[in-house]
Amino acid sequence: MKEFERLCVNVVNDFEIPNEKRKALRVLLNSCFPDYFPQREYFKQIPKFRYLVWDEEKLIAQMGVEDRVINVGGDIVRIFGVIDLCVEDCYRSNNIATNLLRMLENLGQQNGIEFIILFANDHKLYLKNGYKIVTNICRWLAIDELKSVDIFEQPLTDCFMVKSLSPKPWNDGIVDLLGYLF
Ligand SMILES: CC(C)(COP(=O)(O)OP(=O)(O)OC[C@H]1O[C@@H](n2cnc3c(N)ncnc32)[C@H](O)[C@@H]1OP(=O)(O)O)[C@@H](O)C(=O)NCCC(=O)NCCS
Repeated sequence: MKEFERLCVNVVNDFEIPNEKRKALRVLLNSCFPDYFPQREYFKQIPKFRYLVWDEEKLIAQMGVEDRVINVGGDIVRIFGVIDLCVEDCYRSNNIATNLLRMLENLGQQNGIEFIILFANDHKLYLKNGYKIVTNICRWLAIDELKSVDIFEQPLTDCFMVKSLSPKPWNDGIVDLLGYLF
C-alpha cells in the first residue's frame, strides 16, 4: 500500500467532474454503499465539491462536501458537511479517510468555516478524529426519491456529529439545517 502522500488527491467542484471520472465515482460509491446510488453519484442532492483520491488511474476514495450556513439555536454558523466518505475495500485501515478529514479541517480553518458536521451510524472513525456526538433536535427538508416531501423535526442523537474549527461554542438549541439532511 502506498503512503497517502504518494496517492493523488483532487479537490474538485462536482460540476467540473468529467464523464469518465463520474463513471468511476459511481462504481466506487456503489461498491462502498451497495444499492444506494442506482444510476447517479449522489443520494439526495449533489455535494458542492469532492475530494477524489486516485492510485494511478484507479479511483480509490471519495469525500463529498456540503458548504452552507445552518442555524444552531439562533446562531448562524458556516459549516462544511461530510458526505458519503468512502474508501475502496482493499485500501481501508491505512488512514486515507483520516487524512481526508484532516485536509478538510485545514481547508475550513483557513477559510473561516466554524464547524464540520456529519451524520454517521458508525462513530469510530469520527470519534478518533475528534468529532463529538451532539443531541440537538434537528429540522430539515425531507427529500424522497428526488422529491421534497416534508419538513422533519426530531433529534438525531445516534448519528449527528460535530467538530469545532473555531473557539465558537456549539449551542444546545434546535439545529435548522436550512436544507436537506446529507
Ligand atoms: C469508513 C471508511 C471511510 C474508513 O476509511 P479508512 O481509510 O479505512 O479509515 P482510516 O484508516 O482513516 O480509519 C480506520 C478506522 O475507521 C473506523 N471504521 C471502520 N469502518 C467504519 C465505518 N463504516 N464507519 C465509521 N468508522 C469506521 C475503524 O475504527 C477503523 O479502524 P481499524 O482500521 O483499526 O479497524 C471505510 O471503512 C469505508 O469506506 N466504509 C464503507 C463506507 C462507509 O461506511 N462510510 C462511512 C459513511 S458515514
